[in-house]
Amino acid sequence: MSNPMEVYSQAKEFLKEHATGLAFVFIAVGTGLIATRRWMAGGVCRSKARLDGKTVLITGANTGIGKETAVDLAGRGARVILACRDMGRANRAADEIRNRSGNGNVVVKQLDLESLQSVRALVADVKTSEDRLDILINNAGIMMCPKWQTVDGFEMQFGVNHLGHFLLTNSLLDLLKKSSPSRVVNVSSLAHEKGEIHFDDINLDRDYDPMKSYRQSKLANVLFSRELAKSLEGTGVTVYSLHPGVIRTELGRHLWPTIALWKRLLFNPLMLLIKSPWEGAQTTIYCAVDESLQNTSGLYYSDCGPKQAAPQACDDVAAKKLWDISASMVGLA
Ligand SMILES: NC(=O)c1ccc[n+]([C@@H]2O[C@H](COP(=O)([O-])OP(=O)(O)OC[C@H]3O[C@@H](n4cnc5c(N)ncnc54)[C@H](OP(=O)(O)O)[C@@H]3O)[C@@H](O)[C@H]2O)c1
Repeated sequence: MSNPMEVYSQAKEFLKEHATGLAFVFIAVGTGLIATRRWMAGGVCRSKARLDGKTVLITGANTGIGKETAVDLAGRGARVILACRDMGRANRAADEIRNRSGNGNVVVKQLDLESLQSVRALVADVKTSEDRLDILINNAGIMMCPKWQTVDGFEMQFGVNHLGHFLLTNSLLDLLKKSSPSRVVNVSSLAHEKGEIHFDDINLDRDYDPMKSYRQSKLANVLFSRELAKSLEGTGVTVYSLHPGVIRTELGRHLWPTIALWKRLLFNPLMLLIKSPWEGAQTTIYCAVDESLQNTSGLYYSDCGPKQAAPQACDDVAAKKLWDISASMVGLA
């Protein structure tokens, strides 16, 4: 058995002999990692548009990319309404957003997308307290939770990610039209690409799977944007849906505990490669403010540019059918 001194001198010898080769490997790996990190970071919104005198409402803005979006839009001078379910977290986020943006005009309003009653209450509040709404950002989301139901008995991910936002948006259309040109931004996901709308089992009662449900809800976001854009033609209200990238946020809160510890430990270093919340917010900000998008509506974006949505997200018959089912589920005429 070799003693520690022997091992040390052998290692020293090895390093001396292979110094050039090792340096080359380190530089190549380092450069590869930096290039991958840059590529993962995606695009940046370069627009310098100001939003003085304008009002923005962002759902789920107390953390993640919603909070970063709020900091940016407040920094452009907007009045920013954070529509959140946990008032404690929302008020702490509002303080941070005011500090970081230098804009004190940041307000918190209660919204729990699990409850249609809560959506209606927020709408009533906004309609009495706000005289305009220039940008509505449907950002809040829940991913891969167990088979849960909303207060109204809908499958949780479909209920929160799609139905709650569907009712919220439709109920605020008059204010958006009155404030036109105005925008609706729906935060979807690449996950929509493998999604399907299960029209015969929309609440997935027969066959619940957390990923299947998330994909359905994110496909619903893109189909809703498409149908909404059609119905708003000529009103000055434009609609955008987007994939923000893969980002270090709290979105995996229901997924992580189901993954084996050793897999989580293996995955941890990869977290350094994925987008920060600031990077993840860039496409939302782009869709909300970029001047070049003013006359386009109903399209899908990723990394601050247009992206082809999946074929099933471009199906106008399915979009209309989803609209009709959603309207009847949330009690809209
Ligand atoms: N992170 C990613 O890699 C990724 C990738 C693709 C798409 N997205 C999409 O990006 C959006 C933002 O996600 P994120 O990554 O920033 O996640 P996050 O950090 O988990 O933030 C989600 C936000 O949604 C809120 N929310 C959840 N359920 C709600 C409810 N019932 N009522 C009101 N608000 C609710 C959360 O509030 P609480 O803090 O109170 O729970 C939180 O503010 C989501 O729509 C998500 O699908 C994210």
